[in-house]
Amino acid sequence: MIMKKITLALLVLSSFGFSACAQKSESTKSTVNPSVAAFPAPVNPMTLQNGANPSTDAFVLPPLGYAFNALEPVIDAMTMEIHHDKHHATYVTNLNKAMTTATQYSGKGLEQIFAELRPEETAIRNNGGGHWNHSMFWNWIKPGGAKEPSADLKAAIEASFGSMDEFKKQFSDAAKLRFGSGWAWLNVGADGKLFISSTANQDNPLMVNVVEKAGKPILGLDVWEHAYYLNYQNKRADYVTAFFSIINWDEVEKMWRAAKK
Ligand SMILES: [Fe+2]
Repeated sequence: MIMKKITLALLVLSSFGFSACAQKSESTKSTVNPSVAAFPAPVNPMTLQNGANPSTDAFVLPPLGYAFNALEPVIDAMTMEIHHDKHHATYVTNLNKAMTTATQYSGKGLEQIFAELRPEETAIRNNGGGHWNHSMFWNWIKPGGAKEPSADLKAAIEASFGSMDEFKKQFSDAAKLRFGSGWAWLNVGADGKLFISSTANQDNPLMVNVVEKAGKPILGLDVWEHAYYLNYQNKRADYVTAFFSIINWDEVEKMWRAAKK
């Protein structure tokens, strides 16, 4: 009798698990226009994977998960729409094209690919970076969530930089002083401490063979002109200052805790 109950429970649980997996798989295969009324949750960028067969298991553009105008006045709706639907979409398209010949990466997730990537593999480097960086960025500025870091994260920031103000200054400097296009990052280093860096183009600190100092990014700011030019024109500094008001610190915290494990 007990065995029968256990068997039944396992059957129910496994069918639920299968259903959940099937739904997840389905949701990651469709590109949802984020301007529709109901916003699906963004794909967790940590799960960005491609399968063994590039034609059926291609990387997909995750839905933005919120309205294009949700971040106004800091980031205007048109910038968000072009940034997500055109720029990010193009990185995904070109990454999938590059994957058709980069068979050494078949079936691997982006983070594994970045760990192995050689600097001269520019198509994967630029478009894989573009896909990962933007997928993360949409979450880091997702509306809602804590507007300040938790006490634990704040303590970690203060331990690494001395104060929140000093962290903001160093991060802002990294963003403002990045020549041309690139990103500013807050990372967890191999020693578990936080550090700030900046990278050119679509590189990121996970690309251990590419960057000066590797780490696990927990916050990043896109300082390509396509991210801010419509609203801020040449005033990148104003965009960087405004960015701090839209950071979703809950998302940063999630990545911080995952990076420390
Ligand atoms: Fe961008």
